[in-house]
Amino acid sequence: MIVRSPLRHLRKALLFGAAILALTAGTLVGLSGRSLAAGPLPCDIYGSAGTPCVAAHSTTRALFAAYNGSLYQVRRASDNETANVGLLAAGGYANAAAQDSFCANTSCVITIIYDQTSRHNDLFIEPAGTAGPANAGVPADALPVTAGGHTVYGASFSGRMGYRHTAGSGVAVNGQPEGMYMVTSGTHFNNRCCFDYGNVEVQIADTGNGHMDAIYFGTLCWFSPCFGSGPWVMADLENGLFQSNDGFSKNSSYTGDSAPFVTAVLKNNGQSFFAIKDGNAQSGGLTTRYSGALPTSRPGYSPMHQEGSIVLGTGGDNSNGSIGSFFEGVMTAGLPTDAAESSVQANVVSVGYGAPSPVAAGTLNPGSTISLRATTACCTTRYIRHQNNNAVTSVITSSSPALVKNDATWIVRRGLANNSCVSFESRNFPGDFLRHSNFQLFRQPMDGSALFRADATFCPQAGRSGTGTSFASFNFPTRFIRHFNNTLYIASNGGSNAFDTSTSWAADVSWAVSSPWAP
Ligand code: AHR
Repeated sequence: MIVRSPLRHLRKALLFGAAILALTAGTLVGLSGRSLAAGPLPCDIYGSAGTPCVAAHSTTRALFAAYNGSLYQVRRASDNETANVGLLAAGGYANAAAQDSFCANTSCVITIIYDQTSRHNDLFIEPAGTAGPANAGVPADALPVTAGGHTVYGASFSGRMGYRHTAGSGVAVNGQPEGMYMVTSGTHFNNRCCFDYGNVEVQIADTGNGHMDAIYFGTLCWFSPCFGSGPWVMADLENGLFQSNDGFSKNSSYTGDSAPFVTAVLKNNGQSFFAIKDGNAQSGGLTTRYSGALPTSRPGYSPMHQEGSIVLGTGGDNSNGSIGSFFEGVMTAGLPTDAAESSVQANVVSVGYGAPSPVAAGTLNPGSTISLRATTACCTTRYIRHQNNNAVTSVITSSSPALVKNDATWIVRRGLANNSCVSFESRNFPGDFLRHSNFQLFRQPMDGSALFRADATFCPQAGRSGTGTSFASFNFPTRFIRHFNNTLYIASNGGSNAFDTSTSWAADVSWAVSSPWAP
């Protein structure tokens, strides 16, 4: 953990200069004489190719071989204190253990994702825009992954989460050329507008065609047809997610990217040309999905009118219904060469992004998938599932439809309000969690608010009936997840509500943590 210092950017600039010297001399030895973790890294590659990074953001690793500053800032809920998360070594990987220690027994959100260039294009939590209310920061520990053999955290976006930097330094404006990539995930997406990373308006508003140039990733097919089921890499050029100059996909072989780690690439010369590429961030190279003219059948895109702000996680006007994952991304000045983009992809692959150590299914360890079976004598074939957004119990057997099995499967997450408790994310509606509202349980999209976090956090303890596990509500600790008339509540043992009745309470609040119906 590095406490933020005003010298951070000065140190960064010095280190960057030293790195360029070192790379020019054909060596990878840092200031201290110690070998750097890896190199050249993406921004070294783009820089050597004449298209330097003007923004470089990551929660997982350095994007310059000499970078040794902070990656991001977290704020913890217990006392609102903040701390910066840095690197294990220059040019290396995030010091996630420092975050874990700072956030122990509480929860943290990411408040700033620092720009690793010397331009200070840091990403801050995005305020309200014309199309959406103010955003929340992403939970800091919701997306553990491995990179370079280390456990680090990606940024997991639910709806109403996003970051922005207004009027970035050096970012393309008014038809200037630029390139960008991000590493995202093909397992966490939706069809809402717009999980974007890239160039957006100075105002948080739609100011017209061509005022954006950002990578979009998800299943929002703005112009039909899109082929396959997605998710797709597209160009959000404002008022449209483009897969070609006519908007719609002209590439029937591009059916989407379902890999757990996806490299998404966009470049745009600002005048007449743009290209979209994708790749599996764990292996292989990039595939060009479109390379050709900017849209001309609609006005405003050729030339472009970029405004030079930077967004992550929402549309240009803060349309913020989308979900997604972010591990790293950069923006360049100038149109990157195909060779530079291929080298960047090779470097991304060399990171070895992967899932954290496997977690046994059917346990309460974060990352495990489970189903929760009632233990009351009436109901031992019933499991907690969502149905029409309500949380209920249903009888489930091996011959139940796949949909029902998915509805009854939950991913155990560290508690959104306290990381020593747990939260339950829907298996088939990623980003949606089990939460209570007016004491009833529902499946709802995580909105980042403190209330949602608390309502969606449950603290396991020995089953109150003497069997299984009971789950105390984090913010109503005398209330436990209970089934009553096959509907889920947080219930106290006796009280004014019918569902608080003491009759059968102990059994109704005791659950068998079981193997997942939909592993
Ligand atoms: O271009 C798609 C979206 O349209 C933009 O992200 C947003 O600003 C507008 O609503």
